Amino acid sequence: MQDQDPLVYLNGEMTPLSEAKIPVLDRGFIFGDGVYEVIPMYARRLFRPRQHMARLFRSLNAVGIHNPHSADEWMSLIERVSSALASDDQLIYMQVTRGVAKRAHAFPQGVTPTVFIMTNPFTPPAAELCENGIACVSLEDKRWLRCDIKSISLLGNVLAAQYAVEHGAMESIQFRDGFLTEGSSSNVWVVKDGKLMGPPKDSLILEGIRYGLIEELCRSGNMPFEARRMTREEVLAADEVLISSASRELLPVVQIDDKRIGNGEPGPVFRKLYAAYQDAKRA
Ligand SMILES: Cc1ncc(COP(=O)(O)O)c(C=O)c1O
Repeated sequence: MQDQDPLVYLNGEMTPLSEAKIPVLDRGFIFGDGVYEVIPMYARRLFRPRQHMARLFRSLNAVGIHNPHSADEWMSLIERVSSALASDDQLIYMQVTRGVAKRAHAFPQGVTPTVFIMTNPFTPPAAELCENGIACVSLEDKRWLRCDIKSISLLGNVLAAQYAVEHGAMESIQFRDGFLTEGSSSNVWVVKDGKLMGPPKDSLILEGIRYGLIEELCRSGNMPFEARRMTREEVLAADEVLISSASRELLPVVQIDDKRIGNGEPGPVFRKLYAAYQDAKRA
């Protein structure tokens, strides 16, 4: 029950994180050749596990990595890792790489995927961020064109996140050819005249598990929703902008670069969706 050096799962073994080792020829290390998933757990219950599992399977399939486990096996591995941690709220991280092989770009034959699962105590964003909102910076999206795959090759996302840090912002909001894509590690939402809008679920964004949830919350809350391409001008002229992710849940954006969003305060659509999110995660 040591949260400092939690037990993790690596290729069939439970081991303290500090002792978990992989060979340097693991293709995750050499090529970033792998996929991952992050699942929140609240009060010891996974939040939207079916959807996260489906996305993991989609990512594996998209990059041609053999899925080493059935959904039930994955669930029991997650249970093993999460039950070893004292915290009731956790963020569970799962990663599968193509495995260990002599360095050559094309897929090696007959390799066993590397499977790694770790977890950390999860503290949702501070109430202050929800009350005051966050500042973001805008950035040209220079990532590859398969952002729909939850790939561990995250250099573009890493650089975008660092850009935000260097500009004193909480997140980068990316635009490709003038159209909104997503944050460095979040989906971005725009509110205009009471309608919530998100970019289309295409290969230019990762479809967050919160994407489907937010669509459901809009339906049940009788809030109009539309998925469509949005220009930078539209985003900056929005009444509200929100970001969502497993770790950040839902946060209001009150500034992008030097531009104040709406009246510079979290708006009514954020508050309604945030309350619905909190209800959903404890339901
Ligand atoms: C690039 C990117 N987009 C969107 C998301 C949001 O996905 P989810 O809601 O499943 O956390 C994430 C989450 O980390 C992400 O990294």
